[in-house]
Amino acid sequence: MTQAPSPASNPWHDSAFLKACRREAVPYTPVWLMRQAGRYMKEYRELREKTPFLRLCKSPQLVSEITVFAAERIGADAAILFSDLLLPAQPMGLKLEYTKEEGPTLTPAVRSAESIDALKEVDPDSLNYVYEAVRLTRREMPSNLPLIGFGGAPFTLASYLIEGGHSRNYEHTKTLMYGDPGAWNALLAKLVRCQTQFLNRQLRAGASAVQVFDSWVGTLSPSDYRTFVQPHTRALIEGLDGGHPVIHFGTGNAGLLAEMRAAGGTVIGLDWRVDLDRTWDQLGPDVAVMGNLDPCALLADEAHLEKEVKRVLAQAGNRPGHVFNLGHGVLPQTQVDRVRRLVDLVHESSRR
Ligand code: CP3
Repeated sequence: MTQAPSPASNPWHDSAFLKACRREAVPYTPVWLMRQAGRYMKEYRELREKTPFLRLCKSPQLVSEITVFAAERIGADAAILFSDLLLPAQPMGLKLEYTKEEGPTLTPAVRSAESIDALKEVDPDSLNYVYEAVRLTRREMPSNLPLIGFGGAPFTLASYLIEGGHSRNYEHTKTLMYGDPGAWNALLAKLVRCQTQFLNRQLRAGASAVQVFDSWVGTLSPSDYRTFVQPHTRALIEGLDGGHPVIHFGTGNAGLLAEMRAAGGTVIGLDWRVDLDRTWDQLGPDVAVMGNLDPCALLADEAHLEKEVKRVLAQAGNRPGHVFNLGHGVLPQTQVDRVRRLVDLVHESSRR
């Protein structure tokens, strides 16, 4: 087998985004936005009227077009692959559907040791369409623009499998976690095996970095996080190919950030419920941070947006290692021109 080329030889290695992930000096603060490719863009909505969401995800050609179009339309410093967190649930044997009313649903919900046992180990090739999309997108992108791959953290994925969809209180998840820790650990270990491979294969196909989304981890107490989740997330991050930045992200998780940082990640993603400066001080200078504008700032008038962008940048204080982002995804009602303005503002206001 030929050895993978060193990440340092890639044309995107010296981009502002990758430099910031490595905490190197940058000429301006790089910015990209979670959900930058999505329903707030009219071109995406038009495409979606003709094509179901899962069909889009499974078409490398369309994925590549959406991914590159979105990054260029807003002038972002990185593209994120158009895809979804829940795709690995299909080869595990679950039925995955996206409905307008409820969002994603998974059936049957996985709530017992037997149903966890019955989940299939994911066949390495069953998600080839994702890696093919990474390869094609990489070829169609400007060669110095980084491409971010992603996947779900074990807790957030487990919560979808167990609840069967989104949840407010995660009662089924916690019932299984507290009631049958053996089954819980078996489920998370299975998800770690699947996700390690899923993320490594995105990196090997040409992703420049990966983001591990633990979007719903904020529902846990620090003590439950340490007991039931941290060892699994740590195993996932430790299993990833070295030399590529890993962004570790959660929301509503102010009380867990130190523990999440301890689980791993080159960059810790912050939501808007924390002060970036104080939180970075707590995490320490030897980690990069991403964030953390409230997505609703894009719905306010331009004066408010400008004030908030400058506040976040001032809190980062030109320290090496800040990647500008929202604290969570772009909301569907956002105006594209506002997003473009946000990217320009970050660049203009942070030029060193
Ligand atoms: O631009 C990007 O950020 C890349 C694309 C992306 C999508 N999903 C596309 C998508 C990414 C990174 C995701 C990750 C994802 N998917 C997460 C973690 C991110 C987060 O929000 O915390 C989660 C929890 C999911 C699961 C998921 N997929 C949900 C909850 C939903 C429905 C919510 C919604 O916004 O409708 C989806 C569907 C989905 N994923 C859409 C898109 C563009 C909307 C599909 C549509 O067009 O109807």
